[in-house]
Amino acid sequence: EKRHKVTVIGSGNWGSTISKIVAENTKEHPEIFEPEVHMWVYEEDVVIPKDSPHYDESVGDQPQKLTEVINKYHENVKYLPGIKLPSNLIANPSVVDAVKDSSILIFNLPHQFIDRVSAQIKGKIVPFARGISCIKGVHVTDEGISLFSEWIGDGLGIYCGALSGANIASEIAAEKWCGTTIAYDPHPWTARATRPPRATTPIRSSHLDSDINLSITPLADMQHKDARGRTSKTKLVPVPSEYPPLDHETFQTLFERPYFLVSMVSDVAGVSLGGALKNIVALGAGFVVGLGLGDNAKSEIIRRGLLEMIKFGKEFFKETVQPETFTVESAGVADLITSCSSGRNFRCASHAVEQGVSVAEIEVRELNGQKLQGTTTAMEVHSFLKVHNMEKDYPLFTAVNDIIEGKNTYQDLLQLINKGRH
Ligand code: NAD
Ligand code: 13P
Repeated sequence: EKRHKVTVIGSGNWGSTISKIVAENTKEHPEIFEPEVHMWVYEEDVVIPKDSPHYDESVGDQPQKLTEVINKYHENVKYLPGIKLPSNLIANPSVVDAVKDSSILIFNLPHQFIDRVSAQIKGKIVPFARGISCIKGVHVTDEGISLFSEWIGDGLGIYCGALSGANIASEIAAEKWCGTTIAYDPHPWTARATRPPRATTPIRSSHLDSDINLSITPLADMQHKDARGRTSKTKLVPVPSEYPPLDHETFQTLFERPYFLVSMVSDVAGVSLGGALKNIVALGAGFVVGLGLGDNAKSEIIRRGLLEMIKFGKEFFKETVQPETFTVESAGVADLITSCSSGRNFRCASHAVEQGVSVAEIEVRELNGQKLQGTTTAMEVHSFLKVHNMEKDYPLFTAVNDIIEGKNTYQDLLQLINKGRH
């Protein structure tokens, strides 16, 4: 019997927190998972300050490699300070080495960096690997808009689900109770391939210790549906029968902790869009609070934001999106409320208005290398709406973008959204 090796790609505030969660669970379930979890770290130098418990007189204020510091002290001193990471979690500066032999890949990094990282590991992963994207954002190109689960899945030739919810990383790292939503279709095969995989073909991979002799259907039969219900161009390789199935139960076991309750669903589009679009709304909420307009105004922004999120899902992902995902799941309304209360996008937006500077300036000044997702998402969604000549149908998204881009001031916000009110 084989076990799944798990790798987390990303090690920021949320990447490190999710790594902690999955490493706690792989250790408790060695019958399903290899206990050791690799976390890919974008290598950088860090200086440990004198008042840190990890300050070493012999090193002084010499810069040290972040991976070495994490593996020595079991703490991500830059992106998740003060939180003890499990000792079976290994920081790895090489993404190619980190994903080697892994059948479960968890993508958890700011969305602006995913393309480069995907390109590095393309063709170097286990062919039957499955992914879970924890990235909050959407991918916009000249050809259109896609979810990161789709973008990663198509790019790497694997199936990829999504995890999103009302999940402020620092609270979860401190093991404060909350919920989350994981969207994953365990049977994504199209009608042509509903039968269990048959014909015998050995899978050969230079990234596995040995060839796996497993039964698979000819590749042409293994088409599967993407998050929009269309036949994906990716030919999916089934998980060999020697491994535990990669189904809802396995993913729930991998992610659920007593302080982190997982709701498993199949609506990958709804969960992914919830996580991406709420960041635009959180900027809007930050603007009204920064303007001193108070809680009623903030709630009105949340209400209008929710309407635009549902409308966007129905308009562009109508084949599969379920509006209830936005209204009942942690990935929907709960994340919206959390993000508009204490999320980084909300906080940076309100501070920017109070100080009369750009959100980008506050991001650099206050976040110590952490990255906002709302500003880029607002611009990406706007460029997509513009192509469809639909900016006016989304007055809040459009107003947030126009303010971020400097076409309007913070003080213009209400006038802009009143024009096209819902
Ligand atoms: P972060 O903003 O805390 O950290 C930034 C990360 O980017 C660091 O790991 C840094 O090493 C890395 N980085 C910097 N330059 C890079 C480069 N050129 N290439 C690759 N990596 C580089 O990140 P995060 O909070 O872990 O965010 C990851 C995703 O999780 C985002 O999509 C975010 O929306 C989502 N998310 C965050 C939270 C949260 O509370 N932090 C909660 C839920 C979801
Ligand atoms: P921020 O990136 O705005 O901090 O939001 C975190 C988050 O997604 C909470 O669910």
